[in-house]
Amino acid sequence: MTRRLFWKLCGPLTLGTLVLVWVVTFLGSETEQKMSFIAEPHQQTLNQWGATAERLYRTGDEQALAEWLEALQIRENTWAAVVRSDVQPLAGSRLSEQFQEGFRLGRHVEWKIHLYFTENPIMDVTFTDGQTHFLVTLPQRMRPGTYLPETKLLLKVALPLAVLVLLAVVIYRHLMGPLRQLELATRSFSEGNLGVRVRALLGKRNDELTALAETFDRMAERTGDLILTQRRLIADLSHELRTPLTRIDMAVSCVEEGIDTQHFLPRIRRECRLMRDLVEDALTLAWLENEQPSLDQDSLDLTDLLDSVIEDVRYEYPDHCLESDLPPQSAISGSSHRAVAQAVENVIRNACHYTPVGGHIRIGLWPDDEGYRLTVDDEGPGVASDQLELIFTPFYRTDQARDDRPDGHGLGLPLARRQVEAAGGWVRAENRATRGLRMTLWFPASRPKRP
Ligand SMILES: Nc1ncnc2c1ncn2[C@@H]1O[C@H](COP(=O)(O)OP(=O)(O)OP(=O)(O)O)[C@@H](O)[C@H]1O
Ligand SMILES: [Mg+2]
Repeated sequence: MTRRLFWKLCGPLTLGTLVLVWVVTFLGSETEQKMSFIAEPHQQTLNQWGATAERLYRTGDEQALAEWLEALQIRENTWAAVVRSDVQPLAGSRLSEQFQEGFRLGRHVEWKIHLYFTENPIMDVTFTDGQTHFLVTLPQRMRPGTYLPETKLLLKVALPLAVLVLLAVVIYRHLMGPLRQLELATRSFSEGNLGVRVRALLGKRNDELTALAETFDRMAERTGDLILTQRRLIADLSHELRTPLTRIDMAVSCVEEGIDTQHFLPRIRRECRLMRDLVEDALTLAWLENEQPSLDQDSLDLTDLLDSVIEDVRYEYPDHCLESDLPPQSAISGSSHRAVAQAVENVIRNACHYTPVGGHIRIGLWPDDEGYRLTVDDEGPGVASDQLELIFTPFYRTDQARDDRPDGHGLGLPLARRQVEAAGGWVRAENRATRGLRMTLWFPASRPKRP
């Protein structure tokens, strides 16, 4: 079986994971990039401080500049100074240690700032003379990337989690949809709705779950058919048993009252035998329909078997003329002696039953298509063409047969067809061109035995 479901799940999962990794990486670097700049209002504040420092510097009032710087440092809890380009402090400014290590001015307020710095960077607002600079260690409150850890947590944990949960929901629904339908169908079937089917409900979908639905449908079809057949069989059987039981009941009453005991006792015996045959045939039919067995354990010679059946029937119908045209030998293997004999006997007996006294019944057998074809032609009334298949239905009898032979049950042909089929062959009925019915039975010459 092609692993459609595997590929269906594998594709989106692999692709989803790749896209997720890419999105997380892309968004991570984009956010970090955007967070690496000092916020616009803070940039303006820094520039304003630079402008104030420049204004004070230009007035030449070093004392005022120093006081303003002092106040700024205290207010913002930072370091600030005004220096020349050669890093000479002005207005009593003190240089931080960073300047003692080497010549280095601060950064422009619009520059990108590395987010993982330990000490806040020194920002530089150059005066219009280009020689003097207002320097300030970036106050903590202006430090960019304040929400970096939370953003990272969101991107690396919450986002993948949300996407994976979403993916899981989609996969779950994709799998559970058909399973739910199957569950509902199974429940409905178990509650007696034999017509329930699932495949049609799953639309164009085509994977292992639809294969499962098809298997369910086949199972439901077969089980439903079996249950209906069994129900029908039981109903028909009860109906068929009612008449002989009534007759037995009446005969027993007569015997009890001592009326014509000699006549009624054999009649009771005959009714009992008919009932036993009927029940046995019905049980065999039910078994063949339920189990659909392959009857393939015997090897037999059809000529011998037909000879012995014809001899019995000739004895039973002495007023009919049975003619046979059989090959000297017709061995078949992988068959069932019992089933074939019973089927052939039923068909030949029917031919005799429905052929008027003195009529001819012709039985022919010849090799045909890797098997043997048996034809039984009679001179009876035949069967209306629309009933040629119906006569193989259990308990089906034509109206004429009901009148001519009230003791028949309509089980002979259905049983014969299932027996021949279980032996690997087939049975067909057709009306002869002249008068009467032709039954054709085909048996395979050899069939491998099943272990
Ligand atoms: N050779 C035939 N000629 C005409 N009608 C036939 C012939 N064989 C069968 N039928 C019709 O098919 C029906 C079914 O036959 P089937 O053998 O199953 O039942 P049956 O002969 O009526 O009863 P039984 O159960 O005793 O065999 C018959 O009732 C009859 O109407
Ligand atoms: Mg019959």
